[in-house]
Amino acid sequence: MAAKGSKTVYFCQECGNESPKWLGQCPVCGAWNSFVEEVVEKTSSRAQREKRDVRPTHLSEIISSDEKRISSGMPELDRVLGGGIVQGSMVLVGGDPGIGKSTLLLQVCRNLCSRKVDVLYVSGEESLQQIKIRADRMGTFDDQLSLLCETNLDIIRSVVDRSRPRVLVIDSIQTMYSETVGSAPGSVSQVRESTAVLMQIAKGMNITVFIVGHVTKEGLVAGPRVLEHMVDTVLYFEGDRHAAYRVLRGVKNRFGSTDEIGVFEMCQNGLQEVANPSAFMLNGKPRGASGSVVACSIEGTRPILVEIQALVCHSNFNMPRRTAAGCDYNRVNLLMAVIEKRAGLRLAESDAYINIAGGIRMNEPAVDLGIVLAIISSYKEMPVPDDLICFGEVGLSGEVRAVNLAEQRIAEAAKLGFSRIIMPKVNLSGIRGKYSQLDLVGVENVQEAMRAIL
Ligand code: TYD
Ligand code: MG
Repeated sequence: MAAKGSKTVYFCQECGNESPKWLGQCPVCGAWNSFVEEVVEKTSSRAQREKRDVRPTHLSEIISSDEKRISSGMPELDRVLGGGIVQGSMVLVGGDPGIGKSTLLLQVCRNLCSRKVDVLYVSGEESLQQIKIRADRMGTFDDQLSLLCETNLDIIRSVVDRSRPRVLVIDSIQTMYSETVGSAPGSVSQVRESTAVLMQIAKGMNITVFIVGHVTKEGLVAGPRVLEHMVDTVLYFEGDRHAAYRVLRGVKNRFGSTDEIGVFEMCQNGLQEVANPSAFMLNGKPRGASGSVVACSIEGTRPILVEIQALVCHSNFNMPRRTAAGCDYNRVNLLMAVIEKRAGLRLAESDAYINIAGGIRMNEPAVDLGIVLAIISSYKEMPVPDDLICFGEVGLSGEVRAVNLAEQRIAEAAKLGFSRIIMPKVNLSGIRGKYSQLDLVGVENVQEAMRAIL
């Protein structure tokens, strides 16, 4: 039974939706069995406090100062942030446990410290000794880095008040608690309240706050999605925990574009930036193998070449097996139907496994042509020439449609030594003359593309 002055409500652990009753399925995000009971304080006292004499401001009275940005010392991170760390902003760094969030932020702290920017790293997960061990792995640190092992936000607030750092790192939001809320750390109401307190710190004292949030599968603690709407910038750190590379992806950014990605490699001594992701992704590509095609996708403002692998073989089941790793499963099924209908390949009785090598996710339609050619190459057991790349969106009639930024894709391919490019014919106009050393093959539909490679 909830005490007087407080009430019991139910929260969805996936999206933070609030309900007075328990529900089997969340009506907002559709998750099943995600509601948990929590006791929250009635907020009447807070509401009364805020009834001060408030007056709106005219737009013309506001002095616009250029948002101040500081470099994190890592160009890959700066790009995802939209050109550096914005003073007074709140940045959520989400990701699976063990992916490297603490490592990334400790490295940012080290870089900022070496440039005499005051930072405070608050850890609720590791002891000072453990942080020291991690720091020793990463190399030399400036003496100025302040560390704090604390989970009580009221104490953290008073420390921040005294020391006034310019950047505050909270690792992780699921371990923090505020005494005003009765529920346990990691619960939806606690995570929300903690974020609200951090928001006051960020906006009130003009301190940049980085918040680490673990993505959780089982829903024992509230996921970072609960606070996505409260922060300025949301970055997700993704990648296969067993592979070395990590991709930092912008999901929301009030101060920049969201499609940017930053590529890192987890090494013995921390995260290294990968300045040339295409070369990194194509590392280990087999030569002369069927079913392997290089495609070009634009991630944010940057073209990235990836190897698309397809394995098509006869199915022993009535219902052929299909999998897609790194691309959309339904898209692959659609493209296979297009190949069957428009290029006349009998794929209905074939199993098909599609994989984007390196484990990176590519959702841009421009990789369609790569998927199509990889499937055709595997089905016919004919290798695609090693010096060939392709890009283009494939429509339901089998037509190869135009994509944006074709020139950038061509330039990236040329930089990495590719000389034949299969691309949408409409994109050719105005380009052909500029790249006389390359063999640019414009195609209008899937059949033409098939003829060009075989
Ligand atoms: P960590 O930053 O602790 O992950 P998170 O905070 O997201 O939970 O990363 C831990 C993993 O990174 C761990 O498996 C060990 C690995 N690692 C390295 O490979 N090299 C390093 O220099 C460091 C510090 C960690
Ligand atoms: Mg950590």
